[in-house]
Amino acid sequence: MSDILIHSEGGICTLTLSRPDKKNSMTSSMYTELAQAFSLAKQTEEVRVLVLQGSETVFCAGNDIHEFIQNPPEKSDAPVFQFLEALIAFPKPLIAGVCGPAVGIGTTLLFHCDLVYAGDNAVFSMPFVNLGICPEAASSLLVPAVMGYHRAAQALLLGEPFMAEAALEVGLVNQILPPTELKAFVQRQAAKIAAKPQRSVLETKRLLKEHLLPGLQTRMREEATHLVQLLKEPAAKEALQAFEEKRKPHFAGL
Ligand code: COA
Repeated sequence: MSDILIHSEGGICTLTLSRPDKKNSMTSSMYTELAQAFSLAKQTEEVRVLVLQGSETVFCAGNDIHEFIQNPPEKSDAPVFQFLEALIAFPKPLIAGVCGPAVGIGTTLLFHCDLVYAGDNAVFSMPFVNLGICPEAASSLLVPAVMGYHRAAQALLLGEPFMAEAALEVGLVNQILPPTELKAFVQRQAAKIAAKPQRSVLETKRLLKEHLLPGLQTRMREEATHLVQLLKEPAAKEALQAFEEKRKPHFAGL
């Protein structure tokens, strides 16, 4: 069975990350499926809004660490980068519902969503430095732009997590809800947009975002080059191996 569940109804296409035993961490095949789903949603006229969500207890634990070791992205056409290209340029409204941990790409993808709703159990983190790698998804541009430089440095240089309330305060999250109510609320918000004149909605999103796109794409591709390189270096190898072995990494001298 697929780790991405797809449900379309009433103009809303809902993608649910569903790999609970590995905390919805993302494999290459999940990135490929997501990229395809985004592409189909873009082309399909009946789809007016796209929703991305996890479960009530976890949104996404970031890239699958086992895959980072066994099958790391090597080139710009790797599935993770194909997904990010599709995400960044997605022209229709995209709404995220986030409960529990949102790690790495689980947080950085949210900066590309139009609306983000969080359960009160949501915890956001971008621990790239803890893994010996660097930001992705143009987060090195978007995190300081949205959160302010010093909060961005706390999140990206220290790799410190932040809770739903902090995400609301900085404007990454639109509203916080009890986790049990989140999915239904997100569907109601999506339905409100789906009921509006589509040309007007699409034109509005285009006007909001199109001018930012070239800069985001350039930064995302630059980050990707460094990420691919850093994954080959000793610090990342040690950090990823340490996660697999459920121990603390040793970065002395690295
Ligand atoms: N890649 C692969 N497996 C992962 C994973 C990831 N990113 N995140 C969690 N898992 C696996 C764990 O190895 C564990 O597998 P096991 O049961 O076979 O041992 C299972 O999912 C449950 O994880 P666990 O850590 O026990 O759950 P938790 O509720 O205590 O913590 C997280 C949840 C998400 C906070 C924690 O798993 C975590 O920090 N994961 C790594 C996040 C990360 O660094 N991602 C990469 C960002 S680039």
